[in-house]
Amino acid sequence: MLIPREKISEILNTSDIVDIISERVILKKSGLNHFGLCPFHSEKTPSFSVSSQKQIFHCFGCNTGGNVFSFLMKYHKISFPEAVKMVAARYNIKIKITSISPEVRKVLNFKEGLFKLNNKVMEYYCQNFLKSKKAVNAQKYLKKRGITRETIILFNIGYSEKSWDALSFFLRKIKFDNNIIEKSGLVIPRKKGNSYYDRFRDRIMFPIHDINMQATGFGGRVMDDSMPKYLNSPETPVYSKSRILYGLHISKQYCRQKDLVYIVEGYFDFLSLYQHKIKNVVASLGTALTTEHVRLLKGYASKMVLVFDSDDAGINASKKSINTFIKEGIEVKILILPRGYDPDSFIFKYGKQSFEEIAGRAMAIIPFLTETAIEKYDLSVEGKINILNEMKPHLAQIKDNVARSLYIKELSHRLDIDEKAVLEKVRQEHAKYLGQKTNIQFNKQPLKKSNTDNISDRREMQILSIMLQYPGVITQIKKRNILSFFYSKRLRKIGELIEEFENFDEIVIADIIARAQSNEDRELIAYLSMMEIPETHNILEKSIFLMNRIIKIKNESENILMNKIKKAQQASDFELSFELLRQKKKEIQKFRGYE
Ligand code: GTP
Ligand code: MN
Repeated sequence: MLIPREKISEILNTSDIVDIISERVILKKSGLNHFGLCPFHSEKTPSFSVSSQKQIFHCFGCNTGGNVFSFLMKYHKISFPEAVKMVAARYNIKIKITSISPEVRKVLNFKEGLFKLNNKVMEYYCQNFLKSKKAVNAQKYLKKRGITRETIILFNIGYSEKSWDALSFFLRKIKFDNNIIEKSGLVIPRKKGNSYYDRFRDRIMFPIHDINMQATGFGGRVMDDSMPKYLNSPETPVYSKSRILYGLHISKQYCRQKDLVYIVEGYFDFLSLYQHKIKNVVASLGTALTTEHVRLLKGYASKMVLVFDSDDAGINASKKSINTFIKEGIEVKILILPRGYDPDSFIFKYGKQSFEEIAGRAMAIIPFLTETAIEKYDLSVEGKINILNEMKPHLAQIKDNVARSLYIKELSHRLDIDEKAVLEKVRQEHAKYLGQKTNIQFNKQPLKKSNTDNISDRREMQILSIMLQYPGVITQIKKRNILSFFYSKRLRKIGELIEEFENFDEIVIADIIARAQSNEDRELIAYLSMMEIPETHNILEKSIFLMNRIIKIKNESENILMNKIKKAQQASDFELSFELLRQKKKEIQKFRGYE
């Protein structure tokens, strides 16, 4: 890593992990720490904790952890230098890009270039829309659809003119790297020659932003009945459909305020609701919601309402998204609009109040699925069997036992079937799922289990944990050279990172994390820093006790072996002494680290 240590320390000292994370996860203070729902695994009760004092985060559920950089890397799926830059930018700290290795810089420049290009193109389309005579139809079209100038400006809506190369020409003029131009997908290389033609022609242009306010891609709508109605940017290193929700960059603050988000399908659904002062809304842009979408959203609101048209396509699309919510354990409500309406046409016709009224009557997932199934079949014996078969996979996916049994109760009531019969069906279905997936929550341990030395690992971890949490005793620990008695090479390395600090009064955990070599080590350090230390009334005493145990065990195991070897040699049992020496060698290897 070529970003200087001092720079990283400076950024860590200036930034606040609680600020950065709470822009992305809803956090509540409880005691010394902040808690929230983990954005990296599905859970119903918060086990994701952030320590302001230690400037680290750790999830007690999935064991993810680290400093502010590790968080951003994982959350945004970005590299370390990108995360450093993101924090630096947030606090107006300047870092020189020259301090980054050439390969990393290449990747960084590339993504940055794409963002820059998208932002430039967004401006270009906007200016086109607002100023160009060629945009008269586009202006008329948006007016007809009731979109105001204020909305247009806030969401940077634009217009791509009816030309094969207007944008290509513009891009050449502002001198962007050809590779970036091509990867942006906004222009397409011609089969012959080395020029491009524009992807979007004569369309209303909607830029799609990420939560850092950067334009990542575009959607464009025709203004007549021609096909395709909408065209989108292709996936690029900065635009991924499964991770981005339209409008969230602006609406996130309102979702927080209301602790509620409406999820609609289209650009116009979003804009019309927003314009009618229902600002806690995002649009999925016609794709089924992914786990990433849902985890992103739960950082802004705990209540969610899926809003769908009443046609079959709408309901079928909603079913795909519903499974994601069930898996994530999020209690979403389903709002099906009256026949013939989508959110856009409904709000223009009936207004905000009516929308909120019907939204208040939105159904929870299982009742919704039950009712649509009843409508599809009926309540005859055969109908009930069909309904039950349709419901069981959904019920089986509910992870929360209490919620599952309550829904089973409700369903058996509604269908007037014996609860035990429903339960049995769901259980069979559940068994199918169990074989399929392993749960991330349980297969990730902070330290890989080796069956050799769990106890010493635990003691060694406790010592490190004390060093991190009570740096006052480090001098004493260092004096005894306890790290040299460690069995685990990995833990010893981490101890060395801690001992490297010159001034133990100013030890910064986030800084130690920044120096760790691997992601696993960063997670482990965060875990150790948050690990509870039993009997903490006299920490020095506790650590001396632990150290003595570690030293004693080490010496004992060596002495026992040494004595055996001596005896074997005295008895001229060379075979045995040979075998023992081999053991000794293995022991030494183990002492140096796990192999
Ligand atoms: P309007 O007719 O402008 O009101 O659009 P809408 O938002 O009501 O469209 P619709 O309900 O048909 O589709 C919902 C969303 O799905 C749109 O906003 C688009 O994001 C997406 N979508 C619809 N049609 C297409 C298409 O032809 N191609 C692509 N890529 N996406 C589409
Ligand atoms: Mn519509």
